[in-house]
Amino acid sequence: MQNQIDSIKDDVLARIAAAGDPRALDEVRVEALGKKGAITGLMKQLGGLSPEERRETGAALNLLKDEVAAAIDARKALLERAALDARLAAERIDVTLPPRPEAAGSVHPVSQVTDEVIAIFCEMGFAVAEGPDIEDDWYNFGALNIPEEHPARQDHDTFYLPAEEGERRPVLRTHTSPVQIRHMQASTPPLRIIAPGRTYRSDSDVTHTPMFHQVEGLVIDETTHLGHLKGCLRDFVEAFFQVDNVPMRFRPSYFPFTAPSMEVDIGCSFKGGELKIGEGDDWLEILGSGMVHPNVLRAGGIDPDRYQGFAFGMGIDRIAMLKYGIPDLRAFFDADLRWLRHYGFRALDLPTLYGGLAR
Ligand code: DAH
Repeated sequence: MQNQIDSIKDDVLARIAAAGDPRALDEVRVEALGKKGAITGLMKQLGGLSPEERRETGAALNLLKDEVAAAIDARKALLERAALDARLAAERIDVTLPPRPEAAGSVHPVSQVTDEVIAIFCEMGFAVAEGPDIEDDWYNFGALNIPEEHPARQDHDTFYLPAEEGERRPVLRTHTSPVQIRHMQASTPPLRIIAPGRTYRSDSDVTHTPMFHQVEGLVIDETTHLGHLKGCLRDFVEAFFQVDNVPMRFRPSYFPFTAPSMEVDIGCSFKGGELKIGEGDDWLEILGSGMVHPNVLRAGGIDPDRYQGFAFGMGIDRIAMLKYGIPDLRAFFDADLRWLRHYGFRALDLPTLYGGLAR
């Protein structure tokens, strides 16, 4: 039987190595390990052997099974990686090519609203900071006072990437808050930044997409207090929605990285199915905010006995929908030219406070 085992082994391993696609590989698997497979066939003959032989041959067959299964897994991983590489190569787009006239688009509402937000905060003296989309666990969670077993980690529906040997899994950042830490580490107070960018959570319905956009705000100085937070956000909301005296509500809330924490609502009405910001007696939540937690300052290398400040995080897609009356979030990322022609902006209408922020 040992001869048979050896020859089956050589044959099967050679065929695994030669399998050019997942289907061919699966055929090899069935022919070796399936109900009528060669190895299964040998297993069935064990019953006719003496107890001594059975033990020995059984062990050899189990070893063979494991070896074949491992070889199949390895080959499968290789084939999948090759297929992904081929697909990435085939879908490569040369963004430097000139536009085709029939595909002429317009500025996407997310880009427009990001520029509007930047214009408003830059006028107040903020700078724009950036961080990577692929983050370390520590920047995305730990440094923001979200410890290992904290439920907030689960709330975030995180996309993890495969870990390098001996490292923690990197994450697609679930919010723009890690940019706070990176900026604190890289500079000394006073700090005044916003950080717009892409964020990712495994979530998808009319108001959630797996990739979405946030803008983070961070202000750190020696005497910065809650009044500054409220004034700053009020100025922003009035400039952005272009309405004076918008009713605003600062609701106590909880975020691990701020204390106290507040969610901010703006007054609106939904009369006749039409949303009007700044009047009526309904409320819409637009952002989370609070005074930066001392642990977060420490993680950023800032002395919490000397400095304090506020932070906020806001969904860009969401305020774009509210301001421009766009109903379905998913359509934002369908790359449908008709949608873009309807909701998009002219390339030369750069938003500025003096030139106007709206269409
Ligand atoms: N990171 C929070 C989120 O994604 C939003 C947020 C809330 C950011 C409060 C902040 C903050 O900076 O102070 O849900």
